[in-house]
Amino acid sequence: MSVIERIKEKARANPRRIVLPEGDEPRTVEAAARARAEGLALPILLGNAAAIEAVARHRGVDIGDIDIVDPAGSAKAGDYAQALHELRKAKGVTREQAAELVADPMYYGIMMVKLGDADGLVSGAVHTTGDMLRPALQIIKTRPGMKVVSSSFLMDCPNKSLGEDGLLVYADCVVVPCPTAEELAHIAVAAADTARTLCGVRQPRVALLSFSTKGSAKHELVDKVRLATEMAHALAPELLLDGEMQLDAAIIPEIGASKAAGSPVAGRANVLIFPDLQAGNIGYKLTQRIGGAECFAVLQGLAKPCNDLSRGCSVEDIVNTIAITAVQAG
Ligand code: ACO
Repeated sequence: MSVIERIKEKARANPRRIVLPEGDEPRTVEAAARARAEGLALPILLGNAAAIEAVARHRGVDIGDIDIVDPAGSAKAGDYAQALHELRKAKGVTREQAAELVADPMYYGIMMVKLGDADGLVSGAVHTTGDMLRPALQIIKTRPGMKVVSSSFLMDCPNKSLGEDGLLVYADCVVVPCPTAEELAHIAVAAADTARTLCGVRQPRVALLSFSTKGSAKHELVDKVRLATEMAHALAPELLLDGEMQLDAAIIPEIGASKAAGSPVAGRANVLIFPDLQAGNIGYKLTQRIGGAECFAVLQGLAKPCNDLSRGCSVEDIVNTIAITAVQAG
């Protein structure tokens, strides 16, 4: 069974309320109908009911049993505005500004998650990554003990000898442009947690990647990865984790054995930590476009699950992300 099929099976066992702020966006409406029909989640569409129903009719999908909430006419808008003002007043957000913000479905949806009226959120078919991430970072915040919000990409590779039966978890590919050593350590621990809890990987083996393996090159960038490895060990002493390491030493057994003999992960890593966002973002796209891997993005480290879509996403991508978010919420 593929990674995403396993995730969908878990989602079906415990369907959660997932709010979709881009509620009248056609792919989103169709994805909500499919997710509901497949029992993956209880989607909530935000927006004007008449407009959403018109989109559903046009796409030929049934949304009869899906909740629609219009932030414009909502009885809860006042409570959400007050709560948002309380959360952000130290940052200068007045009661009036908070009321304007919650009229925006993106902020309204985030407040639903924050206050427990939804279990998770999926957005980004229209919004940019930054516009989706900022309210989540400002309002949902990191979960206890986690220093930074980041992302993992679940890479389902055609070569099943790699990683965990072809699954490699890459981090961070979306959020933190230039992580400090401490942030990199937190990203490593969060990615191992994603591998375990979302993908069912029993034994995450985490490699912190570099252009050097175990001191083969000297540079301050290498020192940062080495320091991050030490910090990650201190954060999660039970985790199988090693670095700094080149990609081939991390995933090819013979090269791992020769370049990093005795390493608990070399040659068998299933979680790969990239030193910065340029490396991570380029790395996942190479694996997808040249390596032919299927990939699924997930945000990690937030106190409650919110996930971003690509603006070029398909209906299938949205359904998958709804399932991923539902499992994170469970
Ligand atoms: N983790 C936790 N909190 C964070 C993080 C983080 N990674 N980044 C910012 N914050 C917090 C800040 O502390 C701040 O909190 P506060 O307002 O309570 O003090 C709040 O979020 C806003 O911070 P800003 O610095 O104002 O936010 P910024 O404008 O830097 O935006 C963002 C943050 C959007 C994540 C930015 O780092 C970014 O644009 N990252 C890259 C996104 C991107 O374009 N990715 C690649 C494309 S996506 C793809 O290829 C699939």
